[in-house]
Amino acid sequence: MYAITNLLALTALCGAAAASPTPAASASSAFPTATSVVAGLHAVAKTAGKLYFGTATDNPELTDTPYVAILDDNMMFGQITAANSMKWDATEPEQGVFTFDQGDVIRNLAQGNGQLLRGHNCVWHEQLPDWVAFGTFTSDELISIVENHCGTLVGHYTGQMYAWDVINEAFNDDGTFQQDIFFNTTGTAYIPAALNAARATDPNAKLYINEFNIEFAGPKATALQNLIKELQSEGVPIDGVGFQSHFIVGEVPTDLVANFQTFVDLDVEFAITELDVRMTLPETDALLAQQKKDYETVINACVAFPECVGVTVWDFTDTFSWVPGAFPGQGAACPWDDNLVRKPAFDGIVTGFQSA
Ligand SMILES: *[C@@H]1O[C@H](CO)[C@@H](O)[C@H](O)[C@H]1NC(C)=O
Repeated sequence: MYAITNLLALTALCGAAAASPTPAASASSAFPTATSVVAGLHAVAKTAGKLYFGTATDNPELTDTPYVAILDDNMMFGQITAANSMKWDATEPEQGVFTFDQGDVIRNLAQGNGQLLRGHNCVWHEQLPDWVAFGTFTSDELISIVENHCGTLVGHYTGQMYAWDVINEAFNDDGTFQQDIFFNTTGTAYIPAALNAARATDPNAKLYINEFNIEFAGPKATALQNLIKELQSEGVPIDGVGFQSHFIVGEVPTDLVANFQTFVDLDVEFAITELDVRMTLPETDALLAQQKKDYETVINACVAFPECVGVTVWDFTDTFSWVPGAFPGQGAACPWDDNLVRKPAFDGIVTGFQSA
């Protein structure tokens, strides 16, 4: 039944197309597209004095040849983040058993293209293997597990990473610590343990704390600043703050620049690590125009600070965006659409860097 129905539907579509004077427009060409003529986004970022413009990618995406052709363009992307394959569940699925094959694929791709790498991540309360998530440990045992995990992971890539997100999403939005296995078992002791272990095995990688909803002033940003001050006063290495920057069209924080300044005042560098700007679907010309402005606003805010080393988008095409899966009804968050056509947002990024 299904086959026959589909065949009839297909026949009907073909008939319609044949009768139409113009072929049905693809979804992307119905909307305005980017017009900038530039060597690439990394190229304009470098001209603006940044280290990189980069993107996240993930191993299953690497079979998509047209996608990979853009990913491999080192004028477009000067930095790569593995979206999943360096996380704990991927790299230490059983205690003491380390698997770097998938992470190494991303590393090899970036190295082959002459692209920088950001390591993501050492300690996060999600995407943990069961032996960690559901383990029963004393504080000392879990500290030693964290040290071994971060030390071994960071050590495997010694000399190859620009930076590591050593601590990912340690806070709740109200500024309290996530009540995860790490905090419940060790208090905050796992944080310096992870940072010290990372520094010990890769002395040159910049060590970051990566977080969301810290792009505006509030209890979460304040809590992170207090943590940074405490770590600094104890001589624990902390080099940078990753602002994930998963924004909503029309809702980029108005105090973005002022808030960045409060972090820069702590003598740390920073990066925009997971940028996307989502909208409630369907897309419209007006939403895409606002999204272009929003990307420009974010890039401008990075350009305003020499301490902002670079910007990473959390994948560059809507095809591989995490947004529709995480926020039903929302999407179209990336600078390339799901046909790999550059959106107005691409122009917003270019204009943002060219304002430098
Ligand atoms: C941590 O402790 C809190 C408070 O007792 C509890 O609600 C939460 O489920 C615990 N988290 C884990 C991962 O055990």
